[in-house]
Amino acid sequence: QERLRPLIAGNWKMNGTGAALEQIARLRTLLEEAGDIDSEVLVCPPATLLHRAAQGAEGSPIHIGGQDCHADPSGAHTGDISASMLLDAGASHVIVGHSERRADHGETSQTVRAKAEAALAAGLVPIICVGETEAERLAGTANQVVGDQIDFSLPDTFGETTIIVAYEPVWAIGTGRTPTIEDIAQMHAHMRALLVAHFGGAGETALLLYGGSVKPSNAEEILRTANVNGALVGGASLLADDFFSIIVAA
Ligand code: G3P
Repeated sequence: QERLRPLIAGNWKMNGTGAALEQIARLRTLLEEAGDIDSEVLVCPPATLLHRAAQGAEGSPIHIGGQDCHADPSGAHTGDISASMLLDAGASHVIVGHSERRADHGETSQTVRAKAEAALAAGLVPIICVGETEAERLAGTANQVVGDQIDFSLPDTFGETTIIVAYEPVWAIGTGRTPTIEDIAQMHAHMRALLVAHFGGAGETALLLYGGSVKPSNAEEILRTANVNGALVGGASLLADDFFSIIVAA
């Protein structure tokens, strides 16, 4: 496989008020001091910080993304945010189908697909999340579960937009536990094969991110694994210095 430019994405989840914008400024400084960085860098702060984060990142290599969007372009959906609103606030990407959204908000793969389609229609790059629960892994159904999520959560076409799928085993999120490198390699190879079968060349160049307890100490080994083209980082993305170490590891 040709080497794809890795994407290191930070998902701040429901963390951060204005003071957290210092972390964007700090990350910017670290990246500027480092100079030549061979990865794409993305930070997904909570929606309330998007616009200010985008202003703080302007002219730097840091891209800003949303954590979710509604499937409709506008309308009577109190509390929701459309893809075009994220774009307008300065986002280039949006995470869809995170397991916390699937669990907390009952999002199905069909919902996730509609959101990914809305993101593409608005000109955002969707990062589509998949991953099995611990019970599913123990039952030996992880491949099937992730395969079904890929089949049903991805739009039929991405046009010219790079396909990005994040594999986040639910039991590895925020727990400090990760699958073995062999298990990550196996699942990423499985996802690659499915994407190539569905999308041909666009599947070959799809970015497959791993997420779930990625930290400075394990990033290098994980990011060196075949078919791992980046990371989706939660807790360790909240502090710019930790996140930067992960970026450098890629
Ligand atoms: O989206 C990233 C995430 O779910 C992983 O979280 O805290 O385990 O890195 P964390």
